[in-house]
Amino acid sequence: MTSTISASKVTIAPDYAHLCESVADRISARVQAKPNAVLGLATGSTPLGVYKSLVQRFQDGALDFSGVTCFNLDEYYPMSATSPHSYHSFMQEHLFRHVNCRRWLVPNGQAGSDAQVAETCREYEAQIAEAGGIDLQILGIGRTGHIGFNEPGSPPDSRTRLVSLAPQTREDAAESFGGLTHVPHQAVSIGVGTILEAREIVLMASGAAKAEIVRAAWTGSVTEHLPASWVRTHRNIHLYLDTDAASLL
Ligand code: F6R
Repeated sequence: MTSTISASKVTIAPDYAHLCESVADRISARVQAKPNAVLGLATGSTPLGVYKSLVQRFQDGALDFSGVTCFNLDEYYPMSATSPHSYHSFMQEHLFRHVNCRRWLVPNGQAGSDAQVAETCREYEAQIAEAGGIDLQILGIGRTGHIGFNEPGSPPDSRTRLVSLAPQTREDAAESFGGLTHVPHQAVSIGVGTILEAREIVLMASGAAKAEIVRAAWTGSVTEHLPASWVRTHRNIHLYLDTDAASLL
């Protein structure tokens, strides 16, 4: 018999499957309580099991996304939305083509000039504000300590903008792009400040490769050298880990 241990802010699940079910439970509860909830979503390998579970719940008739609005954290730059490498395609593939969500947005990865990029970033912030702000923000954590693509050096008041990816982040993405040379050097990411304005934040991590950065983010200094540490300043932050990711806490 496996059990999930939950302290006030930290939930430790015995394995990845239980971790994803716990996070999907939290998202489902939020959508059931507020059918027009605004969700902030992440890509990457960590939330894949969460999306699978949400799709299953929708197919079982237990969840309705028709009133929900979703904003994704980031998109590579430059990147066409229709590219198989885009985060837009990722979200379509793993969640949105399977559920009845009518409004989901991903930052624009192909805006053009610097001025056009800046304009689409301002527009994304305005769209979040017009939707009433993010009710529940789901985050993964990169091995550099990034949240979204806010790499070390990102201040707590940063907003949606064009960012440079850290070398380790590009290396971590190399396999999915078929080699490091194909990985973009930049991305459009919502800011740390944008993330911290969400009413509730869930940061999830799985696997031993994340144990050290989870320890540093959760127990070290709160600093812009480790952007994920900023989440500890949020009054409604929940950390969801499996036992491997929690092994150094
Ligand atoms: C993805 C994102 C990133 C990832 C992080 C972890 O939209 O913003 O911060 O959450 O890089 O990625 P995985 O889950 O692939 O380890």
